[in-house]
Amino acid sequence: MKTILTGGAGFIGSHICRELLENGHKVLIIDDLSTGKEENIAPEAEFEKCDIRDAGALNKIFSSFKPDIINHHAAQIDVRVSAEDPAHDADINIAGSLNLLNLCAEHGVKKFVFASTCAVYGHASKLPTDEQTPQNPESPYGIAKLCVENYLRFFKSARGIDFASLRYSNVYGERQRIEKMTGIVAILCGNHKKGAKTTIFGDGEQTRDYVHCSDVAKANSICSEHLGAGGAGGIFNICTGKENSLNRIIDLLAEVSGKEVKTEKAARKSGDVDRIFLDNSLAGETLDWKPLISLKEGIEKTWKWARGN
Ligand SMILES: NC(=O)c1ccc[n+]([C@@H]2O[C@H](COP(=O)([O-])OP(=O)(O)OC[C@H]3O[C@@H](n4cnc5c(N)ncnc54)[C@H](O)[C@@H]3O)[C@@H](O)[C@H]2O)c1
Repeated sequence: MKTILTGGAGFIGSHICRELLENGHKVLIIDDLSTGKEENIAPEAEFEKCDIRDAGALNKIFSSFKPDIINHHAAQIDVRVSAEDPAHDADINIAGSLNLLNLCAEHGVKKFVFASTCAVYGHASKLPTDEQTPQNPESPYGIAKLCVENYLRFFKSARGIDFASLRYSNVYGERQRIEKMTGIVAILCGNHKKGAKTTIFGDGEQTRDYVHCSDVAKANSICSEHLGAGGAGGIFNICTGKENSLNRIIDLLAEVSGKEVKTEKAARKSGDVDRIFLDNSLAGETLDWKPLISLKEGIEKTWKWARGN
């Protein structure tokens, strides 16, 4: 299939790109390189440096590449930035997504995979959280992702575009940026490499559902094949279904690196979720997907990568 992959120069997108290429897809990456890196782009993929807010430029790319499916990962991903400037977040994450959906309708592209997030649940009322759990996003980032899911429903019923929205839990792994406030595993590995302390907000017992990027990439390629074969789309949690504390991550990093991980404690941030882990049964039943990388294996891979970069 011919896939337009937005955000393919970023962390998760670069893993998806390789997975799609291995499965015989022709891939064109659209990325403005605002946080993505040119070195992340697989040489076998085509690349257009383009902002998803630029509908005219996107239209030209759709016309010449003639995609069968869109895999949309480009986004403003920083929750704090979304809180400081919700309009900026909405401009990229809502209006940019709408540009892609409008062009799908104009160019007859009938399949769309979207990178959503567990942030749509907010303080989830049910653990493990399944897709039916009420969504109460607390950040503009989560609000925008949920809003796009609603547009996807509209474009499916009004324009016949089938979609899969993949609600990721906390994704970690190789190529996640270590220089900025991104995922905690990347931050820990980056500081550990320099021998610097990582600030832990609260007692470290807060839990998350950490899923390795290679499992997420596989979920995307399975999902593309599934939609391509006429399978029904929908909304799927992509996660491990297991909760692990930050202290457990720190212990595992110490174990795989063979040295103590330096940390310092700070007051818990108000509004931080204590516990979240998601139910992945629906992705298992519908897509026949399950995560394969254990937390220890994933942290070992991430540490090896961080050490060499
Ligand atoms: N990392 C996680 O734990 C996680 C969890 C849930 C959902 N997601 C979603 O997965 C996707 C990928 O996230 P990531 O962690 O790989 O982040 P990332 O920052 O590494 O990737 C995002 C990519 O989008 C590009 N981009 C940003 N704004 C753009 C624009 N206006 N036009 C074109 N390209 C633009 C960036 O240059 C970057 O390459 C995002 O949609 C994010 O919301 C990530």
